[in-house]
Formats: sequence, structure tokens, C-alpha cells
Amino acid sequence: MPEFRIDVAHDIAACAATVALQEEVWSGDVVVHPQLMLAVVHNGGFIALGYAPEDPKPAGFVFGFLGIHDYHFRHHSHMLAVRDPYRGSGLAQQLKEAQRDHCLDQGIEIIAWTMDPLEARNARFNFGKLGAYTRTYYRDFYGAMPDKLNQGLPSDRIYVEWPIGHDRTYKRLRGEDKPASLEDAEREGVAYLLRADAERPGRLAETMSASHLLVEIPRGFQELKARDAKLALEWRLAGRDAFERAFGEGYAAVEFLRAADGRGAYLLVPQPRSDLPLDTDDA
Ligand SMILES: CC(C)(COP(=O)(O)OP(=O)(O)OC[C@H]1O[C@@H](n2cnc3c(N)ncnc32)[C@H](O)[C@@H]1OP(=O)(O)O)[C@@H](O)C(=O)NCCC(=O)NCCS
Repeated sequence: MPEFRIDVAHDIAACAATVALQEEVWSGDVVVHPQLMLAVVHNGGFIALGYAPEDPKPAGFVFGFLGIHDYHFRHHSHMLAVRDPYRGSGLAQQLKEAQRDHCLDQGIEIIAWTMDPLEARNARFNFGKLGAYTRTYYRDFYGAMPDKLNQGLPSDRIYVEWPIGHDRTYKRLRGEDKPASLEDAEREGVAYLLRADAERPGRLAETMSASHLLVEIPRGFQELKARDAKLALEWRLAGRDAFERAFGEGYAAVEFLRAADGRGAYLLVPQPRSDLPLDTDDA
């Protein structure tokens, strides 16, 4: 894989260089305008672009702004994208690390963003590789979205929190602390709150007060949406029920576990207090 150069954006040309990439990954309907991006960068926000050698077009970018949540400053990461040919190259993690360094310099301890809970690749990236967690579910957060990744379904989101100063996060990024496999969790008897029944979502199980829970999601949600929109909606609603019930009972999702056959499930544990960053060390 190529050595990427990470350029932090400070001017309008760099912000404008993200537009074609935004259009390619999502579509023209949801583009953030470069003028707004520049204003954000001038006010504590952060944009970085990744370039592969001998390719003048950016291979990926990350964009976020300074925010306040529960009376504390935090960084809200609004967009992360890597162009198709560069997926799986490590660039996405390099961009997140650049964003982390910017935030640590500002004294910020949490970077947060929203994510479609049914996207297994993003779940693996955010929970498995970065070490993020979630305890918040929003129904149809952005309303109807016209772009190619989101159209046709309610835009439900989990609110992902990434504790960038935690030891566990550093270890995750260095690849020293890998999540268990889904087979391991199954062998240990961890109960499924939501499990696939062939391709369909099964019924929610009565599993409350368990020390660990699993919530399975489809292997390839984009492919499923393209093939069977009705089934994709069933998964959207089943995932919504599972997460809302679990978060309502005080659980947080702290891992995404994968099986060798491609299945994937979130691992949930009871959370301590909602006003503190989650201690995920025992997960
Ligand atoms: C999200 C995105 C930036 C991640 O970049 P990437 O290069 O694909 O990320 P990585 O390859 O480093 O990590 C993805 C992981 O998910 C895995 N993965 C891919 N498809 C998967 C699937 N269907 N189920 C489970 N895991 C999957 C990959 O194998 C990889 O894990 P590994 O490194 O252990 O093998 C990129 O895919 C993208 O631009 N997506 C479209 C825009 C988007 O959704 N942005 C929102 C981000 S929250």
C-alpha cells in the first residue's frame, strides 16, 4: 500500500479539493460547501486530506468542528471518506489519527460522530480498530437523505464517542489490543438480543440483566438495500428496537465482533454513569 501524505487544510483551495471526493462517495446533494469548511477550520475545526504518491486527487479526507456536549468541549467529526481504490489501505486510520492529534493539542478528550448502526464496515472500523463506543440512538436523525449511501430508509444513527486519550484507544490504534471473535463470545454463552434468522432479523430476545449482550447486523447493508429494500427496512426497525431497548436499560455498545464466516455483532455491556467517558477496559 502507498505511503500517504496527510495535508492539513488551511485555505479555500484545500477545502475545495474535498468537493469532488464528497460527490464521489455520497453525491452532490449532501456536499458541505468549501466556504463553510474554511470558516470551520478558522474556528477550531479540522480538515485533513490524504494523498497517495503520483495521484493529484485526494484519496481521502476527514472533516470535523469544535462543539459542546453535556457542558464540555468536544470535537464533532462530520465526515470521513476514503475513495474506493484506497479502501483497506490504512489511510482512514491515518486521517483519524491526524484528527486526534489536533484535538489532543486543543485539550479535547472526546471526538464524536454519528454512524448508521447497520454498516458493518464502519462498525468494524469505529469500534474494532479505533476503540469507540456508543450509548445513544437517534431515529431518522438527518431526515430523508437523497444520497446514494442513505436514500430510501430512515436515517437512524448511533452517536459514536471516541475517548482519544484513553490507554485502550492507543493500544487499539497500535493493533495491540484486538477484540475477541464472535465465535469466542458465542462459546462463552453471550446471549443475542438480536440475531439474524437466515437473512432476516429474528425477534428480540428477553435477555435483560445479562452482563454482556450481542446485537447482530447484516454483513453488507448497502448490498442488501440494493437487493431487497423491504428487508433492509425490516433490519432498520429491528436494529432500532434492539438498540433503543438496550440503551434504555443502561447498556452501551463497546465492541464490534466478527466471525470467520462474515457475520458481525455489536457487544453491549451495562454502562456506569452517562456523564463520564465510558471505561471500556473490562469489555
Ligand atoms: C468508512 C471509511 C472511511 C473506512 O475506510 P476503509 O479504508 O474502508 O477502512 P479500513 O479498511 O481501514 O477498515 C474497515 C474494516 O472493516 C472491514 N470490513 C469491510 N467490510 C466489512 C463488512 N461487510 N463487515 C465487517 N467488516 C468489514 C475491513 O476488512 C476493515 O477491517 P480490517 O482492517 O480488520 O480488515 C470508508 O469505507 C468510506 O469512505 N466509506 C464511505 C463513507 C462513509 O461511510 N463514511 C462514514 C464513516 S463513519
